Amino acid sequence: MKSMEIAKGVYDVGVHDWNISDFHGYSTPFGTSYNAYLIVDEKIALIDTVKRSFTDELLYNISKVVDPKKIDFVVSNHTEMDHSGSLARVMHRIGEDKPVYCSKMGKKNLARHFRQNLNYQAVANGQEVSLGQRTLVFMETRMVHWPDSMFTYLKEDRILFSSDGFGQHYAGHEKYDDQLGDAVMEHAQKYFANILMLYAPLLLKLIDKVTDMGLEIDMICPDHGVIWRKDPARIIEAYARWSRQESKKKALVIYDTMWRSTEKMANAIAAGISAEGVEVRPMYLRKWHRSDIMTEVLDAKAIVIGSPTLNNGLFPTLADFLTYMKGLKPKNKIGAAFGSYGWSGESVKLIEKELSELKFDLIQPGMKVQYVPDSENLDACYAFGREIGKAVSG
Ligand code: FEO
Repeated sequence: MKSMEIAKGVYDVGVHDWNISDFHGYSTPFGTSYNAYLIVDEKIALIDTVKRSFTDELLYNISKVVDPKKIDFVVSNHTEMDHSGSLARVMHRIGEDKPVYCSKMGKKNLARHFRQNLNYQAVANGQEVSLGQRTLVFMETRMVHWPDSMFTYLKEDRILFSSDGFGQHYAGHEKYDDQLGDAVMEHAQKYFANILMLYAPLLLKLIDKVTDMGLEIDMICPDHGVIWRKDPARIIEAYARWSRQESKKKALVIYDTMWRSTEKMANAIAAGISAEGVEVRPMYLRKWHRSDIMTEVLDAKAIVIGSPTLNNGLFPTLADFLTYMKGLKPKNKIGAAFGSYGWSGESVKLIEKELSELKFDLIQPGMKVQYVPDSENLDACYAFGREIGKAVSG
């Protein structure tokens, strides 16, 4: 990707990572991008860098606009290495004495990553730095996505450089939301569900703060995916909605199976839920990636989990999924457990323990079937599903 002018004197100099398919446990079939932005004014600023292995591409993109040595300072909005990995090499190229503006926590975290005495300048929330004709304003945005995260606002152009916030793991030749079309919201929802859901309460406060400040935003430039220029309010409103964790009349039946007994139970439960007029999706864990399931969890009301008992415990895919979901802290859900077993049958209790810790509302005791469900068992599973459907509708 070469540099592209996105506003007068503002360039995207970031890179595409076309081939990444797993971003620390999140499936990225469309790859991703590491966006970085160059602002050319009386002073020249680089906002964020890229993953270490893409340093040469970043420097190449910058050099298509200016000699990298002419950069006066770098802003590091976020320490995670997809945005800072190339920082040391970039500073070596542009001058190691030049300032790196970052949050107070960013200063600590960058030093822990690079063990190198760069000229880190910690900035306060609301602090401004002049570029000559234009001004950068720094906004503390703790936990969007790390404690060091901040946004940078280019005041005169009303451009928000939002780091991980409002991003999407998507690599494409489209540069803007209007070029990608409605698919942008699907990518943004998956990103929110898998990266930011656990920080929903903080995000709501941040959105309130931005609203109270009356910050005018013409363009949002995240560090992943496309830029929001057509309707930046659309993604801010979606973040507010997702952060409130509002759900639809929708249920998921998430399961794995050994000899298809738990699968039969899952299908009967899903049929019962559907009979109550609730949208339901059975999600077999060896078909669906955990991160795609979490995207569906975001707006589902009921999360029904099924596992056979294996060696007195959960089936490993369920243990993986429950650990992942627990970390992302979905809220306001109805939960239920089910599963087949041979002789000991611990899985249902183990699932219920996990769902209780998530504070899901367990509306009925879990459903267990020994070995293979017969028609009576399947009728009971169907009735179990109907109760869930009623609770979702109620
Ligand atoms: Fe894109 Fe938290 O890094």
